[in-house]
This record gives sequence, C-alpha cells and structure tokens, in this order.
Amino acid sequence: MERRNFLRLSATSAMAVAIAPSLITQRLYAEDGSLFQPFEKVQLKDAEGNPIKASALAVEENYVFNYPYVGTPAIMVNLTSPAEKDIELTAEDGTKYIYRGGVGAKGTIVAYSAICPHQLTHPQPEMSMFHYIDEKGTTKAYSGGAFVCMSHLSRFEPKQGGKVVGGPATQGLASIILEVDAEDNIWAVAVLGPVKFQDYFDAFKDEFKKFYGNRRKAKKLTKEETKVQTLKNFSADIIRL
Ligand code: FES
Repeated sequence: MERRNFLRLSATSAMAVAIAPSLITQRLYAEDGSLFQPFEKVQLKDAEGNPIKASALAVEENYVFNYPYVGTPAIMVNLTSPAEKDIELTAEDGTKYIYRGGVGAKGTIVAYSAICPHQLTHPQPEMSMFHYIDEKGTTKAYSGGAFVCMSHLSRFEPKQGGKVVGGPATQGLASIILEVDAEDNIWAVAVLGPVKFQDYFDAFKDEFKKFYGNRRKAKKLTKEETKVQTLKNFSADIIRL
C-alpha cells in the first residue's frame, strides 16, 4: 500500500490512523503543523461497481467522485508529470500544512475537493464552473494545466497541493489523500488542508434536496466505495471562460 501521502503525525495520532482511520473524524494537526483530517477509507469504483485502476486513468481527464461526504464533490486528475513533493502551504487562518505529492506509479495522480474556497462554486449535473483545464487548453484569463473556477477566475496549481495562484480565493484547495494498493486499486482516505464543507452544507440546501433527497443525506460520510465518473459524463455543460 502506497504511503507517500501520509503525514508525520504525532505518535499517538499516527498509531490511531494506522489502526482504525474510519474511527477518527476530528481535525488533526501533525507535529509539523500540517492540517490533516482522516475520514472513511473508501474505494473508487466505476458506475458498474468495478474498481478504478490507477494505471488505467486517462491523462488530464477530470474524474468526479464524492468524498468525504455523500454530497461533497472531488476531482481526480492523472497529470502529465508528477506532482511536486513536500510543498508547504498556508491556510487563510495562517495554519501551515505540507502536501506530500501525488500517487500512482509516477506520482501523477492527484485529487482535490471540488468546492472553490472563494464562494463555493462546484461541479453540478447541469453544468460545471469548476474543473481542471488540460495543458493545451486555455481560458480568457489563464493558460491550462490548472484547476480554474470560472465564477471569478481563481486558479489552483494541481502539482503544488492545490495552491491558489490567481484570482480572489485566499487559500488553496483541500487535497483528497489517495492511496494505491498492490492491485492498482485507488482508495480515498483523508483530507489535507482547509475545508469548506460546513459552509457548503449551509449554502446549498435546495441542491441537496434535489440531488440527494435532503441535506441530512448529503452530509452522510461516504462508506466503503464511491462512484467515479468523468466530468463530461457528470455535467451537461462544462463552462470555460
Ligand atoms: S467562487 Fe470560485 S473564484 Fe469565486
């Protein structure tokens, strides 16, 4: 099981994570100040229930899945080159955290919470205003190779832990910590960095009712597995400004 993304937690926390990550849902701070929150360990599967294989991911495709909650979208991308390791980032409250890099054979697979930290724009079935733009793609404001929120054009660097590098957002994307096991299966295990989940749950009550039945159902933790689909399959209209 790949461990590169695991942080140097305090001895007590590290032991607890190793034994039962699904039992730990509180926010943890590692010895080095990293902001790290273990959630349920969840396997990424396709619509038919087949495991997603890391080596089969298309390069620069947006893959949407919900984690760590039933109603919180994340996007996984297999980049053209490895993500950088040991990137120090700073949340808007000043908390430092360390991004350890991507997973997969070449360290090119990354995943981030797809909720913009500025004003919570996120992919929806009707359309997506938030997604990864491939390296050959462009927007009016930016060249590609980055996550861009089309609402106010914040840009986030996928190879540097989701660091904000443009626009009005004041902090980066929360990273979804992935593991790839010996059979090439992909698991989501934790979230690194500042999250906007509570603000998101407070803001989109009608959306949760429409797509999940109600907000209570959207706030449930994903358990055991989460379905993965391409953004072009998930969203009817992918907006690029
Ligand atoms: S909501 Fe994303 S940049 Fe404003």
